[in-house]
Amino acid sequence: MEPVKVGLLGLGTVGGGTLNVLVRNAEEIARRAGRGIIVSHAAAREYDPSLLDGIDQVEVSDDAFEVVKNPDIDIVVELIGGYSPARELVLQAIENGKHVVTANKALIALHGNEIFAAAQEQGVTVAFEAAVAGGIPIIKALREGLAANHIEWIAGIINGTGNFILTEMKDKGRDFADVLKEAQALGYAEADPTFDVEGIDAAHKLTILASLAFGIPLQFDRCFTEGISRIEPQDVAYAEQFGYRIKHLGVTRKTDEGVELRVHPTLIPERRLIANVNGVMNAVLVNGDAVGPTLYYGAGAGSLPTASAVVADIIDVTRTLTTDPGNRVPHLAFQPAELADIPILPIESVETAYYLRLTAQDRPGVVAAVAGILGDAGISIEAIQQKEPAEGQTEVPLVMLTHRVREGQMNDAIDRIEALESITGPIIRIRVEHLS
Ligand code: HSE
Repeated sequence: MEPVKVGLLGLGTVGGGTLNVLVRNAEEIARRAGRGIIVSHAAAREYDPSLLDGIDQVEVSDDAFEVVKNPDIDIVVELIGGYSPARELVLQAIENGKHVVTANKALIALHGNEIFAAAQEQGVTVAFEAAVAGGIPIIKALREGLAANHIEWIAGIINGTGNFILTEMKDKGRDFADVLKEAQALGYAEADPTFDVEGIDAAHKLTILASLAFGIPLQFDRCFTEGISRIEPQDVAYAEQFGYRIKHLGVTRKTDEGVELRVHPTLIPERRLIANVNGVMNAVLVNGDAVGPTLYYGAGAGSLPTASAVVADIIDVTRTLTTDPGNRVPHLAFQPAELADIPILPIESVETAYYLRLTAQDRPGVVAAVAGILGDAGISIEAIQQKEPAEGQTEVPLVMLTHRVREGQMNDAIDRIEALESITGPIIRIRVEHLS
């Protein structure tokens, strides 16, 4: 049988890794796919041929639209990233009857509804395993392995750069900017590093996971997003004293009122496996009603781990080339006509526990006043510690953990506490998840 012909858009970190895996593991891949898979056409403006296996066998254009238009190409692999021209390229490939594999989480999170509708219409597949958690086959697990379950909630460390930064801050007391530079040099970080540190990348990925889990359209604009750039070393240390680790989590949960969709720094009890996921590694905890909790762990970024997921998609698409489009695994796990209109809850309606750090005047009655406001708001304190004032200082940090409460109630209480004359500066609030 003729080999399947792949058109590769991008020969950077992930594109280069994809070519290398396809060339190095060609025999093993053909044994799995039932036929050979070759990259016959690629698009890149700049690339280093010494890093690319078999590049001499590949026609390279500097215009990606030439690949998309090439009638010999069966599968277009989009590894350029970003919104545009990735969206136009993918839509054009679909229009030309080509299957698409992409690692582009931003594209799927924002334009996935449009892209999947177009693919459905044309009877082609758009595969996106590499878009979430790099090399971890989490899309496959959610869409197929857990298909028997009502998914109840998902909590994931889904940005490798953020996890690398938090781990280095905790273990080595390193400077935030210095660690970010290292992550960029290692090829983990997004082209715009604010996507990693402000939680946007994790929000893209969580949006995709929520749709697969609950059968809802992609709604990136409804995701509550808070990054790690305001985490201070003292909060990492206080969390540790309470027996917690601070991780940047994406959490999505189905409740009776709607779906929670939120990305933020989170205190997790240190005894949880996921609290011990360090460095660039990702982990996704999925709770299904039948299976209970399941945990998926692996490299969330980097050239070969991401290529592993891209190539697995290429193999999957190759296997389905001759199947009836109506009988393929649906893009968002549920049949397109079965997607449900469940509201995404505003963060004010979400219930979590909290870590609070206040800066207070060191004088009688301050703790009582704070506790009084929390008590009035129905917020129960689980633990509280007042630290020694630093030499010559009259202000002290007051750190506490609360029981679960709606965010809206907590916001009101925080406003009232910040208005106290004895409280100086804003209150630091980090959400707490016990994940039990
Ligand atoms: N910038 C992303 C991360 C790359 O750090 O996880 C993988 O999506």
